[in-house]
Amino acid sequence: MMAIVLFGSPGSGKGTQAKMLTECLSIPHVSTGDMLRARIRKGAEQGTSVEATMQSGALVSDEVVNLMVQERLRQADAAKGFVLDGYPRTLMQAEHLCGWLDGCGIREVVIHLAVDYNIIIDRLTGRRECPRCGTLYNVTFNPPKVEGLCDRDGEKLQIRDDDQEPVIRGRLDAYDRQTHPVLEFYRAIGRRVVDVDASTDPPKAVFEKIWQAIKGNGSCAVPGGNNA
Ligand code: AP5
Repeated sequence: MMAIVLFGSPGSGKGTQAKMLTECLSIPHVSTGDMLRARIRKGAEQGTSVEATMQSGALVSDEVVNLMVQERLRQADAAKGFVLDGYPRTLMQAEHLCGWLDGCGIREVVIHLAVDYNIIIDRLTGRRECPRCGTLYNVTFNPPKVEGLCDRDGEKLQIRDDDQEPVIRGRLDAYDRQTHPVLEFYRAIGRRVVDVDASTDPPKAVFEKIWQAIKGNGSCAVPGGNNA
């Protein structure tokens, strides 16, 4: 069982690293941000505050997110492990997850992607995403071969609604106030937390550091990875 919690500020590279880990480990990528955006697209959040909350950069309620994750982790494909991306993000979520994992006899490893805030705005304003396959690009750090089109399937790349500078600042503020303290919680209760410097190295070099931390040796050539 490989239970990985990818932890870090907006733009630290959680989604990028999660995609590589899931390809190498054949375990699902459980991203609360992706799940919430999918629910909004399907119209499942009509009449709720979820969409407006996300558009403002604030955090969605713990009750909604805890339930969503617990249901997801109960699915058969998560029986051998999972990569959590963007969860837990509050002390209440972390306590809920720890209690649930303890009950299942699972011990997680928390990978903290530490990134200098000065580069985050560039990373997020330059992010582009393929709506079909989810591949992530950056117009500066990791551009597609043909501008605006996905290398894998030629789909037109999109900009996320919350990647506007004022909203990014709200997301960073929520991270500082509500999410960063979760790291201290994990350390205080003696869980394994691995700090990975993810500021300047390209995605593949960051991935190698994570791989060494969780596997101890060897490497994995990410199949089809676009993250040079
Ligand atoms: P979510 O979707 O989780 O967004 P986030 O945490 O703000 O993180 P991002 O997806 O923006 O960044 P990332 O760390 O994944 O970086 P990425 O790999 O894309 O959450 C969105 C919203 O949903 C929240 O604001 C909240 O409202 C709600 N929500 C979600 N989870 C919640 C929860 N648990 N509780 C309550 N509310 C919740 O990389 C970013 C860019 O940088 C890309 O362009 C990439 O190509 C580039 N890049 C990546 N790595 C590198 C590198 N090493 N070098 C250079 N460029 C890089």
